[in-house]
Amino acid sequence: MIEGGERMKARQIRPNIHWVGAIDWDRRLFDALVPLPDGTSYNAYLVQGSQKVALIDTVDPTMTGVLMAYLEDVPVIDYVIANHAEQDHSGSIPHVLAKYPEAKIVTTPKCRDLLMALLLVPQDRFITVTDGETLSLGDKTLEFIYAPWVHWPETMLTYAQEDRVLFPCDLFGSHLATTEMYVANEGQVYEAAKRYYAEIMMPFHTIIEKHLDKLSGYRIDVIAPSHGPMYDKPSFIMEAYRSWVFGPLKNMVVLPYVSMHGSTQKMVEYFVEALIERGITVRQFNLAVTDIGRLAIALVDAATIVLGSPTVLSGPHPVVAYAAILTNALRPKTKFASIIGSYGWGGRMVEQIKGLISNLKVELLEPVVTKGYPKDGDFAALDRLADEILTRHRQIKII
Ligand code: FEO
Repeated sequence: MIEGGERMKARQIRPNIHWVGAIDWDRRLFDALVPLPDGTSYNAYLVQGSQKVALIDTVDPTMTGVLMAYLEDVPVIDYVIANHAEQDHSGSIPHVLAKYPEAKIVTTPKCRDLLMALLLVPQDRFITVTDGETLSLGDKTLEFIYAPWVHWPETMLTYAQEDRVLFPCDLFGSHLATTEMYVANEGQVYEAAKRYYAEIMMPFHTIIEKHLDKLSGYRIDVIAPSHGPMYDKPSFIMEAYRSWVFGPLKNMVVLPYVSMHGSTQKMVEYFVEALIERGITVRQFNLAVTDIGRLAIALVDAATIVLGSPTVLSGPHPVVAYAAILTNALRPKTKFASIIGSYGWGGRMVEQIKGLISNLKVELLEPVVTKGYPKDGDFAALDRLADEILTRHRQIKII
């Protein structure tokens, strides 16, 4: 544990641009919601121009000591660039301001208001910038690019013009603890970045479309996000984002479910076989044991979601309700949805799940619900639902 007072050597990206972040190997949950199987990092960057010095973002308050150790031998910071107000990047700002009493926070007006509310930073410590405004550090120029809703309303990106380094904060990030500065294992980072996109960015994919278009006008040599490794081949992550945001849906059914006494389990098993027979890929998630992040990844480009639930106290099983609420909040591009499951003596399981996914722009296909253990008529209904999905997937030309 670094308590402060120690020195750490900053890692150079370009001459006088250094990584001064913190790697959090042990964190396993973010926002008390998002699983972090591979930990994460909070990346901060020090940009030392010939006349002024800027720190771009800070680190999570649990790791302030790491950042301050990197800054031990930095006598002056003129500007703290706050791309985003969320505390995993802003939480150490008060410590930085205390060490550097002349430093100003440079940010958007919305981010200023949030930082004043969240961290109680006084108003006179701020300089606000407009979209496209630049800040000269002498031989280095920082340009600020407004990018609202990645993933809060106040967010901006910072572009170091002479060095062509983009600091996009959460955008393009991945929750991945690694000592590699740049992407070393593309498969591993692709998976982590897709998980991050699914959990954090997907609800705003129509806005991200516009940001990607805007960024296509910039020459970028390095993308330095606030989580995970940097990209020295920016096309890798830009193309991945384009495929997640703009790309076609896949001939795939995502099937989150849970079963208590085997009836819904039998329905799921039969239904999965029926889909496989029709050439449809399935991602099956038993919600009693699944990592909810893997469900989010599957939702990025699946054409159809089918929720499977028994009936509990007249409604859906609570873990299925949770998955439905989460899917509803993540707003995937999914076009079709249905519900399968079982009941003992009645209830409103189907109606309640429908109500929980009302944000999704989906066509709801006829649910299949059995009383008790499924019988021949229920299996026939599952075959009909599989046929309906096949027809819809053919209609949108993904099969
Ligand atoms: Fe990594 Fe939105 O904070």
